[in-house]
Amino acid sequence: MGDTLNTFTFKPIGFIKGAYPDKFGVPRQSGLVKQTVSELSILPEWQPEFALQGLEEYSHVWVTWVFHLNTNTKYHPKIHPPRLKGETIGVFATRSPHRPNPLGLSLATVEKIEGGKIYLGGLDLVDGTPILDIKPYLPQFESLPSARGGWATKDENQVAAIEVSFTDEARTILNHWMERLDNSKLEETIVDILKQDPRPVVYRGFEESGNSPYRSDHAFRLYDGDIHFRFTAPTKAEVFAIKFVSEK
Ligand SMILES: C[S@@+](CC[C@H](N)C(=O)[O-])C[C@H]1O[C@@H](n2cnc3c(N)ncnc32)[C@H](O)[C@@H]1O
Repeated sequence: MGDTLNTFTFKPIGFIKGAYPDKFGVPRQSGLVKQTVSELSILPEWQPEFALQGLEEYSHVWVTWVFHLNTNTKYHPKIHPPRLKGETIGVFATRSPHRPNPLGLSLATVEKIEGGKIYLGGLDLVDGTPILDIKPYLPQFESLPSARGGWATKDENQVAAIEVSFTDEARTILNHWMERLDNSKLEETIVDILKQDPRPVVYRGFEESGNSPYRSDHAFRLYDGDIHFRFTAPTKAEVFAIKFVSEK
């Protein structure tokens, strides 16, 4: 007998149009960077004019989606979350992208619903990600302030408070960019992304060691710009350039 009973097929309801063209720089959880707004056009076959009716009464939705950019091919039941500094933990005790079924779950604010499109705030997914479902967040059942948060909430696993600065040159470019995109929240967005320290773990702790191969400059892409930054001390990040995709 085949395993058709245990294999399921899903079709996207749409694809996200968002702030993050690449995986690098995407916040590690929804709600960490609140200023971005992503657009989700519900595909015509799901009849958005009917399917979205009533959703405007909710402030938040759960979004289910596919980690379609995963490149891993092998299943690992234990994961090395960056914040656990080398320790491992069971995959089901994490929100890692690498799991038996590559399904993501994010909580988003409902900013606006218009013409078959829903605008979602604070997401943590790459532009173009396939969305499988949205469901209203039910505060009467799902808001549990006394819930235990596991390893991720322990003091020793927190990211240290990071101070973010811009060189004069980067700030001038930023001001023009904010005007061009008509987005007054760009600076806050960049600061909140850097406060989460998006660097791969191997680069941390080498900030001041002059000629270390690990002391390097990094860049993440936001909308059409590459934000170039470096850490000048363990808790100090400096944006020193912003370059646009169109300039390349
Ligand atoms: C730790 S996961 C958490 C995702 C979701 N909130 C969850 O709990 O299922 C967030 C990371 O997934 C990665 N990511 C986002 N969109 C992705 C995609 N379409 N494919 C693969 N990885 C993605 C980004 O690196 C992001 O920082």
